[in-house]
Amino acid sequence: MNNFLDINKTSPGDLRRIIDDARAMKDARKDAPKGMPDAEQPLAGRMVALIFEKPSTRTRVSFDVGVRQMGGQTLVLSGSEMQLGHGETIADTARVMSRYVDLIMIRTFEEQTLLEMAEHATVPVINGLTNRTHPCQIMADVMTFEEHRGPIRGRKVVWSGDGNNVFASFAHAAGQFGFDLTFTGPETLDPEQVFLDEARAKGVNVTIERDPAKAVQGADLVVTDTWVSMHDPVSARERRHNQLRGYQVNEALMSQAKPDALFMHCLPAHRDDEATSAVMDGPHSVIFDEAENRLHAQKAIMRWCLGV
Ligand code: CP
Ligand code: NVA
Repeated sequence: MNNFLDINKTSPGDLRRIIDDARAMKDARKDAPKGMPDAEQPLAGRMVALIFEKPSTRTRVSFDVGVRQMGGQTLVLSGSEMQLGHGETIADTARVMSRYVDLIMIRTFEEQTLLEMAEHATVPVINGLTNRTHPCQIMADVMTFEEHRGPIRGRKVVWSGDGNNVFASFAHAAGQFGFDLTFTGPETLDPEQVFLDEARAKGVNVTIERDPAKAVQGADLVVTDTWVSMHDPVSARERRHNQLRGYQVNEALMSQAKPDALFMHCLPAHRDDEATSAVMDGPHSVIFDEAENRLHAQKAIMRWCLGV
């Protein structure tokens, strides 16, 4: 039984197997209707709980569809409607849920909630985003990069904007998959140092460059995300926008990257804030492939967790 809690907690060999498996499952379905079961049914007889303490479109739908394609069943639960949201401990919730389901995916606020769930559950737990990381997203992003451009090892990825949870999982991935990573954004929104140090310790170049035009020189991939995450206070919106305005990904910035650079955004986006519509809908963008690949990557993650 394996938990999928973060990219730095899964071995590089297992991460590679998950990406390869995702690719194979995607290829095997080709243009099959979305509701058509996969030829193999590795989740037959399995029940999967999807717990959301924050909103979601992609994570919710892609996990639900993925389980069904593999022959399993899902329970989609909102944290606020569970006793979890009304004082029952995470540990008790984990123990109880483990008596009913075979796998738990949780999207929550504090990382500690995820860790406690994993500690006390007797079934695998998957991180569907916390305030601190978003590993399933970056597995889909690595898969997407490699589909378009081949191995990500040795490539240069540039993140422009807020040093948030999605950036953190990119930093984990840099260390595990072996690519260079540059962060460009205001000092006030720098990522936690530990994410940078850990990737550097694995031998990849991780740099901070305040000038976005310099940062994207030689980039194979430019990535951004919302300037205000779900856990950020609404009152911080204006201040964040003022600090981040200079880090918008627009056509002028993309023209400084490699000519064949890709553009990614995990979505949901605030069009014409963190990235212009011209970039999002332009020739560098693979944002909808990223969204699709959440489905395939997570199917492979669930198989790995259950060993099926
Ligand atoms: N990218 C992502 O996780 O999207 P949702 O918030 O819609 O799940
Ligand atoms: N950084 C964003 C990602 C959403 C998928 C958030 O946490 O709100």
